[in-house]
Formats: sequence, C-alpha cells, structure tokens
Amino acid sequence: MLNRRQFISVTAIGMAALSTGYTIPSYEKQKKEDKKMAYTAKDYSKLIGMEGFGETLLKNHFTLYQGYVTNTNKVLDTLDRMLKDGKTGTPEFAELKRRLGWEFNGMRLHEYYFENLGGKGGINKDGKLAKKMAEDFGSYEAWEKDFKAVGAMRGIGWVALYRDSVNGKLINFWINEHDVSHPAGCDPVLIMDVFEHAFMIDYGLKRADYIEAFFKNINWGAAEARLK
Ligand SMILES: [Fe+2]
Repeated sequence: MLNRRQFISVTAIGMAALSTGYTIPSYEKQKKEDKKMAYTAKDYSKLIGMEGFGETLLKNHFTLYQGYVTNTNKVLDTLDRMLKDGKTGTPEFAELKRRLGWEFNGMRLHEYYFENLGGKGGINKDGKLAKKMAEDFGSYEAWEKDFKAVGAMRGIGWVALYRDSVNGKLINFWINEHDVSHPAGCDPVLIMDVFEHAFMIDYGLKRADYIEAFFKNINWGAAEARLK
C-alpha cells in the first residue's frame, strides 16, 4: 500500500505522463542503465531501542524515508530519460523538476535527522558548537529555547539549525514540508523532524514531549562535525 507522499508522487508522475501520452519507462530497466545516479537508502536500525522512540514508530519512519530514496531515484531517472528523449520543453519535465526538490529533500533531511540521533548526554558546553551557540544566541539555553519554540509551531515540517556560510552565524529555521524555505548558502547542523509521523504513534498530539525525547537523544558529536 502506498503512503500519502508516495501516492502523491506516483500520481504526479502519472498525471504528467497521462497528459501528453508520455510513456513512463520501466524503472527496473532504467536502474540498470543509470546506476550512477541511484541513491541507496541507509540503514538506521541501530536507533531502535532509543529511549522515548518506540520501535513501531521508528520502523514506520525508516519505511517512509526509504520511499523518498526510491522516489528520488524514480524522478531522476524519468527526468534523465526525458532529457535523452528531447522532452525538456514540456510542462511534464518542468513539474517533475519541481517535484525533485520535494523527494530529494525528503530523503536528505531524514538522513540528517537520523544521523543526529542516537547520542547520549547533553551537548559538550566546552565544544565549538556550544560556544558558537552562546556567541550567536547569548547562551546555549537561549538557542535551545528558540529551537524548541520553532519545533512547537503549528504545521508540519522541519526545524533546522543552519550555519550561514557567508557570515558564519547560526540561525534556526522552520522548513515547511521539505522543500520550502531552505536558506541558500547555509550548512545544516541539526535537523528535527516535526511531521506528525515522527511522533504521533508514541506521543499523540503532545509534540512538546516528543521534542524533549529528541533532545535527550541528540548525537551532538554528529551535529558538531557538521559545523565547518
Ligand atoms: Fe519524517
């Protein structure tokens, strides 16, 4: 059974193809031809057992993530085929190209998210990330207050701590869905998923409790390593 996003994606591709009679090539056949483009889903099963995150919730989340990897490959393969077939001037090409941001970011943001989980203990207050937070926000606590407040905002999306590579400053961003409002020229440092699927199985509507569980499990070493 397709999940909501897979359904939307398949529907979008299908509608694009239907409207002009463009035939979607066999993905299996394309896979062999375009192996260099394919992304592979990473295994995050080591996160199972993490305090505050149920196994069912995590397994569902891994499956959802794998769907983004599959669909990223499908969209890239189809776009590549359209390029080879001289179909780049079509509305279908344009719509699929727009779709790529959704699928690709859905894949990559989950990778950042899972990779900045699985840690124990709080942030090292003497480390460079904590010092940078204190420098840019006044204190680590002020940064945390801001990050959690963004996470508590109504709506679905992501909370992302970014570092602006131009002026070096840290900024907490709200990312709507996956693909809207990523700041250009900034490096992601810490990513938190606040789509309902990230917490509802375990916490219902108590998003704040999920955010607390997320904070207990941040892999601060992984986050700090992203601070270039
Ligand atoms: Fe998610």
